Amino acid sequence: MARLASPPSVFFTIFAVAMVFIGTVAPQAEGARAFYVFGDSLVDNGNNNYLFTSARADSPPYGIDYPSHRPTGRFSNGYNIPDLISQQIGAESTLAYLNPQLTGQKLLVGANFASAGIGILNDTGIQFANIIRIYRQLELFQEYQRRVSALIGIEQTKRLVNKGLVLITLGGNDYVNNYFLTPITARRLQYSLPEFTRLLITEYRKILMRLYDLGARRVLVTGTGPLGCVPAELAVRSTNGQCAEEPQQAAALFNPRLVQMIQSLNQELGSDVFVAVNAVEMQNNFIDNPQAFGFVTSKVACCGQGPYNGVGTCTAVSNLCPNRDIYAFWDPFHPTERANKIIVQTIMTGSDKYMYPMNLSTIMAMDSQT
Ligand SMILES: *[C@@H]1O[C@H](CO)[C@@H](O)[C@H](O)[C@H]1NC(C)=O
Ligand SMILES: *[C@@H]1O[C@H](CO)[C@@H](O)[C@H](O)[C@H]1NC(C)=O
Repeated sequence: MARLASPPSVFFTIFAVAMVFIGTVAPQAEGARAFYVFGDSLVDNGNNNYLFTSARADSPPYGIDYPSHRPTGRFSNGYNIPDLISQQIGAESTLAYLNPQLTGQKLLVGANFASAGIGILNDTGIQFANIIRIYRQLELFQEYQRRVSALIGIEQTKRLVNKGLVLITLGGNDYVNNYFLTPITARRLQYSLPEFTRLLITEYRKILMRLYDLGARRVLVTGTGPLGCVPAELAVRSTNGQCAEEPQQAAALFNPRLVQMIQSLNQELGSDVFVAVNAVEMQNNFIDNPQAFGFVTSKVACCGQGPYNGVGTCTAVSNLCPNRDIYAFWDPFHPTERANKIIVQTIMTGSDKYMYPMNLSTIMAMDSQT
């Protein structure tokens, strides 16, 4: 149990020591807004490095194209989606909340609370042992706000958080690592796919309301990607390279319901706090027509083994493609940095088919006027 999430006392000590060295804390850089990230492996910047779990990306070849060329805990060959959003908003990457370097001024950049393997439901990802489930991520966000308050005061902290940009990515693991994990699962016995989807949406709504209560006012909410098309699913469920049917049905049910839920939530709040990011539509473009985006394939992962390089995990002994820029998928589940760039470009400038009710460049233009 020694490697479990750092107890607050450890944080506090590190924090106090850091304060002695920093002395005074400079005000937040003009312009860049804080960025907060919640969710699963698609957006984890390395929290799981500090946990006792099998869901980790802290050994080679992960990070092979990252500036340091070393693994960081990101499930990518290089940058992941949060890094690329940070770049778009003119900020440095957020640090993982469990990273001991997240102290002093760095706290004003924001924080990444995401943890690979988690889902909307508390029972998702139990096979990964010790991961930071979403309600715990929200508790850590509260802890973060207490730490920042000690630095810049309660009012300024509230302002920082209210003006921050938030990204939350949940749902994929509730299907692939829970409902569909094995041919027979407890959840499958309990619910039909539409019923299970309804449960996920109901629970996601509660999570989003909790985020709002904690001060979030601009939140990008992503649903699932094209679950049946990832190399891992092709490897176990596809006979002819066609995307696997059931997980695709799941994504097709989940994403429209997510948009509806966000519409009703915004209506209730009287403001466009939540913005739906349709990750299925975004990825379908390059999955259906990889060549048009400069990929040689959208079916075979760059790093892995077995059919489609989709079996098991990406490790030092896996097959590894020499040029990561021509693959849509880095490992059996996660896009390459180049695919992430396409996704983030669509988040920035996509039409309401991809970003509902608006894209990030519109959000940034609106928020800069207030
Ligand atoms: C998940 O756990 C949190 C507490 O950690 C609890 O508040 C929440 O209701 C649980 N969700 C479900 C669906 O049981
Ligand atoms: C963003 O979304 C708006 C509204 O849907 C659209 O008019 C605009 O062309 C999109 N792109 C940019 C760069 O704002």
